[in-house]
Amino acid sequence: MATAADKKSTDEIVTLHQLGAEQAHLIDPKKIGSRVKVDEKRILNCRADVNQLMPIKYQWAWQNYIDSCANHWMPTEVPMARDIEVWKSKDLLSDSERHIILRNLGFFATAESLVANNIVLAIYKHVTNPECRQYLLRQAFEEAIHTHTFHYVVESLGLNEGEIFNMYQEIPSVNKKDAFVLEHTKTLNNKDFATDTDENMQIFLEDLIAFYIIMEGIFFYSGFAMMLSFKRRNLMTGVAEQFEYILRDESKHMGFGVDLINQIKIENPRLWTRELKERVVQNIRVAVELESEYARDCLPNGILGMKSELFEQYVRHIADRRCERIGLEKIFGDENPFPWMSEVVDLRKEKNFFETRVTEYQTGGALSWD
Ligand SMILES: [Fe+2]
Ligand SMILES: [Fe+2]
Repeated sequence: MATAADKKSTDEIVTLHQLGAEQAHLIDPKKIGSRVKVDEKRILNCRADVNQLMPIKYQWAWQNYIDSCANHWMPTEVPMARDIEVWKSKDLLSDSERHIILRNLGFFATAESLVANNIVLAIYKHVTNPECRQYLLRQAFEEAIHTHTFHYVVESLGLNEGEIFNMYQEIPSVNKKDAFVLEHTKTLNNKDFATDTDENMQIFLEDLIAFYIIMEGIFFYSGFAMMLSFKRRNLMTGVAEQFEYILRDESKHMGFGVDLINQIKIENPRLWTRELKERVVQNIRVAVELESEYARDCLPNGILGMKSELFEQYVRHIADRRCERIGLEKIFGDENPFPWMSEVVDLRKEKNFFETRVTEYQTGGALSWD
């Protein structure tokens, strides 16, 4: 039997629909109150209700969401006692090694937050598909966990929080990388920006590439290689393990970004012009240069088996692989100087990341609300 609540006026139904769609200009009045059909779903400028997850059109987006939930972890689950011992020792780390660790903590501490803010403030609104939004919500939480990691590391090791969290403003090689990707959020933060013209859709695509391919796919990777190299030498193993967790998450973020970018190209093939491709290649070239400068700044003297030239080669190799995934030709043609990094990335699913996981959890009954 219909209840009073079922007998909403048409005006109220319109309001609910608009709350979900966010972009009132996209709503087709003829569709209000109708059920969503799968072939109406689109990544950009979708006119179907964004509140209806099912029927799912993009299985890859849903699968990425499921996989990411299965990878849940918290930084506080990683024991830090051994790291504290190594960090406070006089002779287990050289000054060059401490410099590398601090630079990478400083870069990641704020880069994670920049990515989170970009998802929430610049990307989410324009991706008008509920299964992709489901993933973006999960990704935003993971970025919060990554930022939490650096809070935990700073507290555990007793580092200078002002130094770490201000490195993106005070250290030129870090600042230049962040400034470069922030250039690609400015337009999107403009409240009047909409993906309502081909030109603006191209700007959005270029910005997605800047964050998913350049920031998460290139700017993170020499740092990953540097930090994971410590674990190979049994130093700073807790921090390195946290970087392994982050690497696993980031590789999923980039995979989702690649799918998202390629799907927008499939749905709007006219956008992927020669001019846009040239702009993207130019952005990647600049990014490789900035990342190389960062590697030189992290490794002015090199450490055991790790010279900045090798990292520069690694960055060029990684950039080529990213280009291929979004349908661009390789730019550089370098071999991978760190084949062990591929093993870490490729084995990330098989490895038992939770072997050190805390097994006793606080239960609801034990929580204190004082
Ligand atoms: Fe992250
Ligand atoms: Fe990420």
